[in-house]
Amino acid sequence: MSSYNHFASGAITVLAIAAGGFAYGSGDYDDRADRPAWSERTGAVTAAVDNSRYLELCGSCHFPYQPGLLPALSWERIMSAGQKHFGASVELNSTERSLITNYLLNNAAGRVDDALANRIMVAQRGAVPASITGSRLFLDEHDKIAPAMVKDNPGVRSLSECGACHTGAKAGDFSERQLVIPGYGRREGD
Ligand code: HEC
Ligand code: HEC
Repeated sequence: MSSYNHFASGAITVLAIAAGGFAYGSGDYDDRADRPAWSERTGAVTAAVDNSRYLELCGSCHFPYQPGLLPALSWERIMSAGQKHFGASVELNSTERSLITNYLLNNAAGRVDDALANRIMVAQRGAVPASITGSRLFLDEHDKIAPAMVKDNPGVRSLSECGACHTGAKAGDFSERQLVIPGYGRREGD
């Protein structure tokens, strides 16, 4: 069972390391000498959600997406779309809206030094994704997955439900070693 692309992630990690110096070389990024080098970290981990209001308000209908999964501009657009939320209607009062927006913007990809968030930014090459499943890194990583494993799989149904396959998703760990597709198990043959 090896129908999805194993080489894409490695290639993108290398690109992220190579491009890091200029893509984010805006002074403050390079000052963080206390952080481990990118090459020493896994490229599939982003910081877990540490905001209980966010979990409550943004995790009731779907997986509570980590802020590092999208650039700030994407979050800004999603949060200012008001009632038009991907075909659903999300009602927040103004206090909740600004609390959530601030949390997302302060921790967005491009604003935090976080392995997966950095990879997402590099892959976008400046384009602003409208959704996580529409982002370039996501599309690259998931384009080889058969519909039988997703839409037609009662344990998954939608690629937007990250936690259905990535057992470490809530903790921000999307690495392959934590991947179990319901009904298919772990990927074999590596
Ligand atoms: C009333 C239910 C509901 C609530 C509450 C809600 N959403 Fe959604 N959201 C949806 C639906 C429905 C989709 C489309 C999912 C799909 O395509 O499978 C969606 C999609 C998304 C996506 C795109 C996921 C993808 O497929 O890439 C993001 C990002 C998102 N929501 C963020 C948020 C945030 C942030 C909040 C909190 C302010 C929130 N949502 C609250 C219903 C909701
Ligand atoms: C149907 C199961 C499934 C769902 C649902 C799913 N993924 Fe994946 N994901 C995969 C598979 C399969 C791979 C490819 C693993 C490989 O070959 O390295 C992957 C790879 C990834 C990678 C790259 C991992 C690495 O090691 O570089 C990231 C990041 C990722 N997914 C994030 C997400 C996010 C975020 C969501 C939700 C919006 C999501 N995935 C939903 C199955 C899924």
